[in-house]
Amino acid sequence: MSSTLFRTKRVEQSLRDAEEPEHALKKSLSATDLTVFGVGVIIGTGIFVLTGTVAKNNAGPAVALAFVVAGVVCALAALCYAEFASSVPVAGSAYTFSYASLGELPAWIIGWDLVLEFALGTAVVAVGWSGYIRSLMENAGWQMPEALSGREGADGFGFDILAAGLVLVLTAILVIGMKLSARITSLVVAIKVTVVLVVIVAGAFFIKGANYDPFIPKAQAVEAGGDLQSPLVQLLFGWAPSNFGVMGVFTAASVVFFAFIGFDIVATAAEETKNPQRDMPRGILGSLFICTALYVAVSIVVTGMQHYTKLSVDAPLADAFKATGHPWFAGFISFGASVGLTVVCMILLLGQTRVFFAMSRDGLLPRFFSHVHPRYRTPHRPTILLGVVIAVVAGFTSLGELAELVNIGTLFAFVVVAVSVIILRRTRPDLPRAFRTPWVPVVPALSVLASLWLMLNLPAETWTRFAVWMVLGFVLYFLYGRTHSRLGRPEETTTGEVTKPPSDHA
Ligand code: ALA
Repeated sequence: MSSTLFRTKRVEQSLRDAEEPEHALKKSLSATDLTVFGVGVIIGTGIFVLTGTVAKNNAGPAVALAFVVAGVVCALAALCYAEFASSVPVAGSAYTFSYASLGELPAWIIGWDLVLEFALGTAVVAVGWSGYIRSLMENAGWQMPEALSGREGADGFGFDILAAGLVLVLTAILVIGMKLSARITSLVVAIKVTVVLVVIVAGAFFIKGANYDPFIPKAQAVEAGGDLQSPLVQLLFGWAPSNFGVMGVFTAASVVFFAFIGFDIVATAAEETKNPQRDMPRGILGSLFICTALYVAVSIVVTGMQHYTKLSVDAPLADAFKATGHPWFAGFISFGASVGLTVVCMILLLGQTRVFFAMSRDGLLPRFFSHVHPRYRTPHRPTILLGVVIAVVAGFTSLGELAELVNIGTLFAFVVVAVSVIILRRTRPDLPRAFRTPWVPVVPALSVLASLWLMLNLPAETWTRFAVWMVLGFVLYFLYGRTHSRLGRPEETTTGEVTKPPSDHA
């Protein structure tokens, strides 16, 4: 049985599958396209919303340091991702990479994990979008009823109707196969980056030095009974659960890590990249570097504009300008943020259908999920099913809890990818690698440790939810995936009605 669980899909077979004409995606993206795509998906709710929440609850102005910590963790993971992406240039991201190195069960786990990342990530971004739309509405003098503004702050029933609505509209758009043209994506990226630069440049004029005092607020004990909400590391080592202080910076890093999610999605575009061996690492590392610099600058400015205890949790960047008496700037920021977040949301939703596509191409998920709509030629069934589920989740769950769950799933995927780099170097030393992770096994080992460290800084509650999701995944694999895998049934490799999903992200 273990030989089945760890059967690997040969890299050449992955490449061959991807080259079958009915499954092949067009190779048209360059390093610049990838960087634009990367920045397009990376900058989102993380910087626009979580900065405020985390500064207020966990780190104070030191949220800037949390971004540096999370950026370093991602850079280490990116060095591993880049080697994989340049040696296994097919769709599916960490899922495909681990199928080629670790085997079918680990690949299934990763794929399952990525569904969590993309699906719940979509919900987080939708909730962030809704905060900015409400801030924009307030500018115009309209107020959403509390019960329809989401769970946070609602007394009793709370449903974020705007977030759920956005997910449903985007689902419909993906079902009918409307795509963001490269030009629109670039335009939106330009708007988003402009907004971020406006926050940095205009906000710098409103900084008050006193707001940085204290830069790292003193650790505060959390109320008794909040154990499950405390970082696992504090419970494991029997420390008194606390917020702020140096440990607060790490807790904050494990949450703002969400702001970097997306560079790994760039790797899913390997199959559509002209020269993946050269352009993929450039695209991934380039977009990561740009975003880290912007995040650190934004958080320094925003916590300088308003004392961290007063930052808003819905739309902190815009509300900081309102607080300094500049509603016009706030309106501009809310508008730009909501345009930018719409695109992030759409890319995450699309990413999720791609992982489903890759898994179902391999037979680990039912063919049902890769049948395309007769008219729109899109994988409509998984899109609708998951779209509705995500809309409900976005409506009812708080942003912080969702983001933490997305983060633990993604960090876990990073661990597996880093381990895979080491394994693949041993099992397939012959494989051409245009990009080689430096100092293997040191860098992958550091990446594993850094990702695990951030995972440990997430609340015990998040670990429990993640465990439930993974157990569900195991049950599904053993009941379905293991027996339906195409690897186990080679005679089926070129038949079936599986068809490619929409061929461009951008
Ligand atoms: N990194 C993306 C965001 O912050 C997913 O919204």
